[in-house]
Amino acid sequence: MRYQGKVAIITGGTKGIGAGCVRTFVEAGAKVVFCSQYAGEGDAMAAELSAKGPGEACFISCDVADVAQVEHLVDETVRIYGRIDCLINNAGWHPPHKPIDAFSVEEFRSLLDLNLVSVFVASKRALPHLRKTKGCIINIGSLVGSMAQLHATTYVATKGAVIALSKALAVDEAAHDVRVNSVSPGNIYTPLWQEAIDAASDPAATRAAGDAAQLLGRMGTPEEAGKLCLFLAAEATFTTGVDHLLTGGAELAYGRKTRKE
Ligand SMILES: NC(=O)c1ccc[n+]([C@@H]2O[C@H](COP(=O)([O-])OP(=O)(O)OC[C@H]3O[C@@H](n4cnc5c(N)ncnc54)[C@H](O)[C@@H]3O)[C@@H](O)[C@H]2O)c1
Repeated sequence: MRYQGKVAIITGGTKGIGAGCVRTFVEAGAKVVFCSQYAGEGDAMAAELSAKGPGEACFISCDVADVAQVEHLVDETVRIYGRIDCLINNAGWHPPHKPIDAFSVEEFRSLLDLNLVSVFVASKRALPHLRKTKGCIINIGSLVGSMAQLHATTYVATKGAVIALSKALAVDEAAHDVRVNSVSPGNIYTPLWQEAIDAASDPAATRAAGDAAQLLGRMGTPEEAGKLCLFLAAEATFTTGVDHLLTGGAELAYGRKTRKE
């Protein structure tokens, strides 16, 4: 019951990392409002988690690329639960890999709306409530936001900006005792990762390369992402403006893997 009675908003909580966060927070006693862009997609999951407890979950459909829908998500949370203690900006997408020549300006602008502007909008709307509770914001960045990735200019740019926005907001909101951190996953095995496997010319080799990219020899799990976010929200009370790598050591030792099988 590490987050009992607290209220969290988790964007993109029906699958993958967001779903791991929703489950972990409900298990810790929190009331969680989560969304996806599809009407009704999370209703069954919300009912299942609320029945299990000890916290509860509530699904609201919201396309985070739409400003009015994000504002509605925040306002509804306050109407239903009366407060916000934690906002996890998780919803995002990684487009298929291609060189800059193949990306249109429109594709880049729409990815900025989805991965970056959504974080600004949700944070801005939630902050008046977070200041009252001395709550926190956790933004899901990416390891590639700081170390880059082949044929992913637009995605890398959005995630680098999420990490920078988190630090800038941490500076401003410290005066209100609101902490702002980012979590930057490396490879976490989620439906998004499965999309990349399915799109590859050699799916088995792509999965194996995904596992081999970490010192720990495997991808991380959505539950492990949920646990890190819960720690940041519930216990890491002297931590703000930090980008937390959740990578299994992928970036260490110049990328050289030292695990012995
Ligand atoms: N999986 C990884 O290895 C990895 C690594 C680094 C960063 N990330 C980041 O973590 C976050 C979650 O990734 P994931 O792998 O769990 O993805 P996923 O595709 O498995 O799940 C994404 C979730 O976000 C929701 N979503 C997508 N677009 C949305 C929109 N417009 N409005 C509302 N909800 C929307 C989806 O419905 C889903 O619930 C993303 O921001 C991603 O960039 C993932």
